[in-house]
Amino acid sequence: MDHRPIGVFDSGLGGLTAVQELMRLLPLEDIIYFGDTARVPYGNRSPETILKFARQDLNFLCSFDLKAIVIACGTVSTTSLSILQKEYHLPIIGVVEPTAVQAARCTRNGKIGLIATAASIRSGAYEALVQRENPLAHVFGKACPLFVPLVENGRFRPGDPVIELVAEEYLQSMKDIGVDTLMLGCTHYPLLSDIISKIMGPQVTLINSGREAARALKALLIQRDALAKDGLGDVSYFVSDTIDGFEDMASLFLRSNLKGMIQQVDIETY
Ligand code: DGL
Repeated sequence: MDHRPIGVFDSGLGGLTAVQELMRLLPLEDIIYFGDTARVPYGNRSPETILKFARQDLNFLCSFDLKAIVIACGTVSTTSLSILQKEYHLPIIGVVEPTAVQAARCTRNGKIGLIATAASIRSGAYEALVQRENPLAHVFGKACPLFVPLVENGRFRPGDPVIELVAEEYLQSMKDIGVDTLMLGCTHYPLLSDIISKIMGPQVTLINSGREAARALKALLIQRDALAKDGLGDVSYFVSDTIDGFEDMASLFLRSNLKGMIQQVDIETY
């Protein structure tokens, strides 16, 4: 039994899709969330800059006494996870491995699509893990750099002509290839699930990376006998940009009204 909170971070609001899953799967756990809203998006930056930002994000989270951290950001997970796991002395889970394992299990025709940020696609991290799990499977990657800024600006609703046009264009190659499984390799993308499903069709299974990471964390905590047995499930939110408007946007990502304190942090000082 371990009642210390779980830390979760992302470049912005996308990691809240993982928090939503954690709240559902582990309702007694306290969570500290950090969203680097002042510097989002990370996905078009160099690996060096992403690592620098990720270290600052972790340094902030590690100012709390945490039992584990979920990197609820595909971009940081694909580019920096193994370095960060060596530098910080607590369990750190990324989104890539749980997502790749689930996709490798799900595919029937061996054609797995991956949509993610440019940095994640460049890293080849999802492909390597899918290959490890299922050497017969192939991953077809497509960088979708406009998705994160559109989602962060609230342009993710079905019927919005801008996001629908962009999604049609990004997903056309996946349709042409005939993937039967599509990894949503960025934690912002579950907000686009309805639009993506409509374009890809019901025969294509979407893998939600935040959900898979939450499941992996639950398994890890059970294995370490580190679940909170009678916690309150408090969630505290920290962001690097203004907190104005955060509650409304975050509630959309969480699919429920945000409860818990919200505070701005000067992340450059970490
Ligand atoms: N949610 C982040 C991810 O999963 C968004 C990346 C970005 O900031 O570009 O990759």
